[in-house]
Amino acid sequence: MIVQAVTWIGGVDGYLELVDQRRLPGEFVKLECRDAEQLHHAIRALAVRGAPAIGVAAAYGVVLGLQRLGEDDTVAEARNELTDTCEYLAGSRPTAVNLFWALDRVKCKVETTSDRVTLGELREAALSEANAIFAEDVDMCRRIGENGQRFIEDGVGVLTHCNAGALAAAGQGTALSVLFEAHRQGKKFHVYADETRPLLQGARLTAWELQQAGIGVTVICDNMAGWLMKQGKVGMVITGADRIAANGDAANKIGTYSLSVLAKKHGIPFYIAAPSSTFDLSIADGSEIPIELRAGEEVVRPCGAELAIAPDGVDVWNPAFDVTDARDITAIITERGVIEGPNAERVAEHLQAGA
Ligand code: MRU
Repeated sequence: MIVQAVTWIGGVDGYLELVDQRRLPGEFVKLECRDAEQLHHAIRALAVRGAPAIGVAAAYGVVLGLQRLGEDDTVAEARNELTDTCEYLAGSRPTAVNLFWALDRVKCKVETTSDRVTLGELREAALSEANAIFAEDVDMCRRIGENGQRFIEDGVGVLTHCNAGALAAAGQGTALSVLFEAHRQGKKFHVYADETRPLLQGARLTAWELQQAGIGVTVICDNMAGWLMKQGKVGMVITGADRIAANGDAANKIGTYSLSVLAKKHGIPFYIAAPSSTFDLSIADGSEIPIELRAGEEVVRPCGAELAIAPDGVDVWNPAFDVTDARDITAIITERGVIEGPNAERVAEHLQAGA
């Protein structure tokens, strides 16, 4: 059974229910977000995480923001609230473009709803757009899996990084969707999950999801990947992405870049799986992608551990993402198909063809 990370409960007066990913794999706990502040905190603290899931959650966050309005508020006040909520939620995390994409979609939908409509109708418009984004994500995830499963050969060892599964999306994920689809077709393969320092999304979340699905998985520390490749255990690498520039450079969890370099050195194909909502064509290449810097505490006390693993007061650098060069990506798998040897021309052609 595929887990559902983000669920809207009820109608326009409803709330957002998240699987609290900070507590996995030890505890499966739901977190209720009943206003935009709670959701902002949940995104910032990685209770909900992964590019598509952040986008879907933020879309519902707009509905939460509009709930602040009372009977006496005018449609003009609702439009101001809309702008404020979108700006506020957009400040929760900087790298995953799906966040801004989803907020823009809901904002545009509400703004283009005729001036004569009631407050209730504006709120309905926001909810129906958030529901549409959710449903599209489910469909995109499935299609990414279908388009990518052909790259999984029987007996292959697959290395993945961070978590790009159902926990990271509304549907069954991106990189893991490819694995789920191949598994459904009866292919035999084994997955190596990088633990993914410092927040351990690979060890805590990917290993948990693959176990639930009955797919064989081995957790490795991030610094073991090169040696694993050298042993001939890795036939392909596949990860998700948080933002893909117009030329195909792809931002993903810190450590992905190192894997791409290692894969090239060992002649191993390197795949990115991501929906078209992860492309940011306003950015020419990866150098312009904003990289989130997070608190040093996450490195010193992994997952809130009491015991510090570095001396008090030590300087820490903690970028949450890095950028893999397009030339080191064998192919990008989207819901529309596959971009082999991605570059600016091929990305543009791929996205136009499917539009
Ligand atoms: O910091 P996170 O856990 O939100 O980072 C998530 C990733 O880097 C994922 O690989 C990416 O969002 C793709 S998820 C389908």
